[in-house]
Amino acid sequence: KKAEIIVDKYFLTGAVDKRIFGSFIEHLGRAVYEGIYQEGNPNSDAQGFRKDTLDLVKELQVPIVRYPGGNFVSGFRWEDSVGPKDKRPSRPELAWGVIETNQFGLNEFADWSKKAGSDIMMAVNLGTRGPEDAKNLLEYCNFKGGTYYSDLRKEHGYKDPHDIKVWCLGNEMDGPWQMGHKTATEYGRIAAETSRLMKFMDPTIETVACGSSNLDMPTFGSWEYTVLDEAYDEVDYMSLHQYYGNRDDDTPDFLASSKGMDDFISGVVSICDAVKAKKHGKKNINLSFDEWNVWYHSNEADEKLEKWIQAPHQLEDIYNFEDALLVGSMLITLLRHADRVKIACLAQLVNVIAPIMTSDTGAWRQTIFYPYFHASVYGRGTVLNTQVHTPVYESKTYGEAPYLDSVCIWNEEEDTLTIFAVNKSLEEDMEVSCDLRQFEGYKVAEHIVLTNDDLKAVNTEAAPNTVAPTLSSATKLENGKLQTVFGKHSWNVIRLS
Ligand code: AHR
Repeated sequence: KKAEIIVDKYFLTGAVDKRIFGSFIEHLGRAVYEGIYQEGNPNSDAQGFRKDTLDLVKELQVPIVRYPGGNFVSGFRWEDSVGPKDKRPSRPELAWGVIETNQFGLNEFADWSKKAGSDIMMAVNLGTRGPEDAKNLLEYCNFKGGTYYSDLRKEHGYKDPHDIKVWCLGNEMDGPWQMGHKTATEYGRIAAETSRLMKFMDPTIETVACGSSNLDMPTFGSWEYTVLDEAYDEVDYMSLHQYYGNRDDDTPDFLASSKGMDDFISGVVSICDAVKAKKHGKKNINLSFDEWNVWYHSNEADEKLEKWIQAPHQLEDIYNFEDALLVGSMLITLLRHADRVKIACLAQLVNVIAPIMTSDTGAWRQTIFYPYFHASVYGRGTVLNTQVHTPVYESKTYGEAPYLDSVCIWNEEEDTLTIFAVNKSLEEDMEVSCDLRQFEGYKVAEHIVLTNDDLKAVNTEAAPNTVAPTLSSATKLENGKLQTVFGKHSWNVIRLS
């Protein structure tokens, strides 16, 4: 197969907001307990934070982490999670049917985030609680002192405010599974009022309104429109969530899912702009794709889980090689929409549908770690409006889908140009050309490839490098014309500098 990538240094999509490479830690399964925190483990530091996990999180350069949920947040009493550990109550946690001990909470997460080099994206409970508790939480986190909750934070040993800038107004409030779920009008009103109160307290924060839990929600579209009709002036972002799975073992269809993601983003942008027009709005509502990933491998096992235990092995998807290809394509899709997608969170970060797994004896990289790592580390700069002339195929769910997904990022300051590409063909390599004569002086630094003969290959603690990147020598740049080959079913990163 043959394809062409077309870029022009004056034809830009927009700057990459680094928060597009965010992730997510929920009090769910072993994400917190045994994932990032495990007192007494030889790999843990004095605070009980797993050092091996921290090393991998730092390697990923995760800029922001959403916390503490997810469905969990809709029953969360944040006060339970602060203060002396021996005074913190254990509670039945209704979202996931477990017991939450609160031995790790808000302040520990703030400490952990500092060590990880990440900012916090905090979610407030708009399920079982409302604006008053959200305002109190913000006072505890961000107020300088001299008030009840800010002094309580000081009493708990945190003199300086946590200064959290991004706040999610609840989680998936359109979902019937959500504690305290609401109609769009109910939610739009409460989101608007919560955001208004919070911004009275701290005008420097930004807030994210809940969008649809996925594109298949029967209320998709009208939900976004109604919520924004109520809350347009008060909020800054509309959230999107989407997970994909290869349940029918139809890999071409599965790999075409990024087309579904692309349509989802375009649809939400249109709705945001329709409400803007109706309201004669001055600002844009941008997008926070704050949950995205592959999620299906663990579904069956989770149905059989014992209830009301602590930190069970829950949502522990073991990712295979084809999952990494789709994650790569989803990253390309997010980057291609960098003009409107300002925040995105790979859900989640450790153990729970995650790029990083831990056991009592170590931590390792799942297959999906690699595209996420490459995008986060090499994908910062400006997105070139990348045209891809590619052969297409017919997929069952998404219709015509491209064999080649690609995007180019130009970092003018650092003088680098990076091409990310996924060849989705399961049978054929692809010869690809790209005219880079405008980018004089650039040379090929490396061409990284992630591929495997076995689409179902996985990494485990015993064999952590079964799926790992290698270098390719297939890329040539002569007289400004780049020629390369993307092997069948491969993730590619061409770095020029
Ligand atoms: O990430 C796992 C769960 O998926 C989250 O708790 C919820 O928001 C979504 O349905």
